[in-house]
Amino acid sequence: MTLAALPPMGWNSWNYGLNERDRADFSRLTEKSILAQAQAMVDNGMLAAGYNYLVLDDGYQNARRNYKGELQGHALRFREGIPALIQEVKALGLKFGIYSVPGTLTCAQQYDDYIADGLGSLGFETIDANSFAEWGVDYLKYDWCRAHLNDGLNPEDAFRKMSEALKATGKDIVYSISEYGLFRSHEWAPEFTNMWRTTDDLFARWDSVMYTLDLQRDLYPYSKPGAWNDPDMLQVGNGNLSFTENRAHFYLWAVLNAPLMAGNDLLKMSDETLSILIHPGVIAVDQDWSGEQGRLIFDNNDAQVWSKKMADGSRASVFLARGSTAETFELSEVLGEIGGAKDVWTGDSVDVAERLVVAPHSAELIITN
Ligand code: GLA
Repeated sequence: MTLAALPPMGWNSWNYGLNERDRADFSRLTEKSILAQAQAMVDNGMLAAGYNYLVLDDGYQNARRNYKGELQGHALRFREGIPALIQEVKALGLKFGIYSVPGTLTCAQQYDDYIADGLGSLGFETIDANSFAEWGVDYLKYDWCRAHLNDGLNPEDAFRKMSEALKATGKDIVYSISEYGLFRSHEWAPEFTNMWRTTDDLFARWDSVMYTLDLQRDLYPYSKPGAWNDPDMLQVGNGNLSFTENRAHFYLWAVLNAPLMAGNDLLKMSDETLSILIHPGVIAVDQDWSGEQGRLIFDNNDAQVWSKKMADGSRASVFLARGSTAETFELSEVLGEIGGAKDVWTGDSVDVAERLVVAPHSAELIITN
């Protein structure tokens, strides 16, 4: 069976751990807080909707490896240890993901003043892969963090090295890499990774969502089952994104067949945010593979349509109003001849003869056949 045959879904601790100034606050990352988020995924229906990976990102590590050279959880924040946490999370029916880097320094050490020594996997690839496998890890996020500058590493070689160490464990571990689109990973990563970041970090602001979207334009030929373009984790429910901005962001990631990794505080989530994250119709678009991810098919200044063919022959299209004015679309001008149309959010049919008006910073997701 292909690992990550459909875009992986889950929750990742990184965006959750950021404060209002987008700086990491590691005091938020404790075994108690992670377990509470895991429990929330079960209770609020996210697990049932398909979000089955819980990924512990940077900042869980103790300041030093142990005497055997193994990574450990932070001694005060993860007192029971990472393996015990993994068992508890998995007992809830979730899968567990973890974070490391190919060089010597993690990103948190470089950008968030995380005081630690020797956390990177450089020279420890086999030890770390074996630890992850033993602990029951199902997913590894392996993050570049300037390893070309710090350690003189070649990205393709360094990412391949960990892929081989993971394979050698004999366990099915989803391999998610990130080099922020710096080294054209879409050209080489599909061969030995399950997903690769295509851009630098996405922030919970509309301009960042639009900027990240623009960088996806030419990448549609590279995704396939088991190997996905990753425009970064969802910011749905974070920052000051409005309801329609959050929903548009989610629609767009769905037509791109993006991995759907939430990162909001699930204990403080509004009903509106949850209604976006677990919308079955939108998730079904993301998880549908017809042979090609969605792409930009109509582009008129701030009016865009990102669209993908669905496996049943229908078409899912996001009509997007990027700017501060509403946009009007003629469905047939954009899509040619169509039979019927349905608004995925409401489930209502749409009159194909009527013009579609989309409010500013908003989008409509329409399925046509
Ligand atoms: C980078 C990545 C983020 C996160 C942090 C951790 O910025 O892009 O997703 O993993 O590092 O430090």
